[in-house]
Amino acid sequence: MDKFIVKGPCKIKGEISISGSKNAALPILASTILFEKEVIIKNLPRVKDIDTMINLLKSLGSEIKFNKNRKIVKITKKKKQNFFASYSLVRTMRAGILVLGALVAKHQKSITSLPGGCLIGARPVNYHLNALKKLGMKYDIKKGYIHAHTKEKLKGAKIRFSKISVGATENTIIAACLANGITILRNCAIEPEIIDLINFLKSGGAKIKFIGKRTVKIEGIKSLESTSYSVMSDRIETGTFCVAACLTGGNLKINNFDPKIIKTELSLLKKVGAKIKVAKKQIHISGPKKIKNLTNLVTKEYPNFPTDLQAQFMVLLCKAKGKSSITESIFENRFMHVAELRRLGAEILIKKNKAFISGDTNFQAAELMSSDLRASVALVLAAIVATGSSTINRIYHLDRGYENIENKLRKVGVNIRRVN
Ligand code: UD1
Repeated sequence: MDKFIVKGPCKIKGEISISGSKNAALPILASTILFEKEVIIKNLPRVKDIDTMINLLKSLGSEIKFNKNRKIVKITKKKKQNFFASYSLVRTMRAGILVLGALVAKHQKSITSLPGGCLIGARPVNYHLNALKKLGMKYDIKKGYIHAHTKEKLKGAKIRFSKISVGATENTIIAACLANGITILRNCAIEPEIIDLINFLKSGGAKIKFIGKRTVKIEGIKSLESTSYSVMSDRIETGTFCVAACLTGGNLKINNFDPKIIKTELSLLKKVGAKIKVAKKQIHISGPKKIKNLTNLVTKEYPNFPTDLQAQFMVLLCKAKGKSSITESIFENRFMHVAELRRLGAEILIKKNKAFISGDTNFQAAELMSSDLRASVALVLAAIVATGSSTINRIYHLDRGYENIENKLRKVGVNIRRVN
């Protein structure tokens, strides 16, 4: 198993370019099941979750051709379509559930593995199933698989999500594209990755529009046309690098990302003392000498502060002057990194879903264990500002979602190497 060795403290300085968004690419790839004709997807990040989704599509009967650097993929349909999304693929990546809506909408059947829980929370799929049921999908759950079918095409419906869910919104939008009639979805997630999915589907002829802040209208069509689409850049990677620059009192130019997408994060970083200049597709950030604290930072659905940056901001606030607190309101168990940060010297108290951070931490290097994707990158950030040589184990979590992170960090001044 690979691990990282990071020798700190390091200061981040230089320029990096942001890769394609994993969380936008995954639903876009899943939705290619809807298409009969060739689809080209560009700007894919080279991360493990994308490989898993591609393997899932292959197992379902898609023909996959990558270009040389594996950032562009051409997807065509083989004659034989399968409908079975296996546990071995969906288990490692919850986004596997996103093929369900596409398979039922296009082929009227599917057997898809239930994704199961994961360390950050139970993560059920009841909102996905309830919404697809309203579109006419019938299903049974047998031995961990969702056996789904519909006699005819799905039928447009009016659906209100009882809670905002990124995945359920995506699955239902995908399915409704080929349903008979009109679907109105209320209380939708409006994360930028959902807008990217909608833009992709529209580029193939889908009729989707927002008719309210969280209300989407989808007019079902018969089939989608061949298309070519470039995935948006990754906002969580961008946010992570912004935190890295701020944390180390560094100076970083971040290219290939639209700063308007992460207004909330940038204003928080300004609050803690960072100096930020933005241009069309660029963010120039320099960290303060003394980081200021933040009280009651709360993770919430977009456009609010994202749960996927909670662990990274916690590291930043460990180094801040004075006490901070963070409330995690999206997932019930997303403080796995806290025990590891304590091993580096952090003083953090957890009460239910709230973390109280003492600040002024003098991180000392240690051997650390990754628990999930965003927690592992937080440990890398902490190791960058810790004194001495830290080892971060189980970085396969990190490889699921960050493209080439050690090379990107090394290029901007971090002493990091991968060993196995
Ligand atoms: C997506 C992102 C993930 C991010 C999360 C929240 C991808 C591939 N993953 O995950 O990185 O952290 O959004 O921004 O895009 N829930 C239910 N029942 C459901 C669905 C969700 O109870 O059917 C709960 C979840 O357990 C969680 C909350 O709703 O507590 C939000 O989850 P959701 O927005 O669906 O997250 P994902 O789509 O799984």
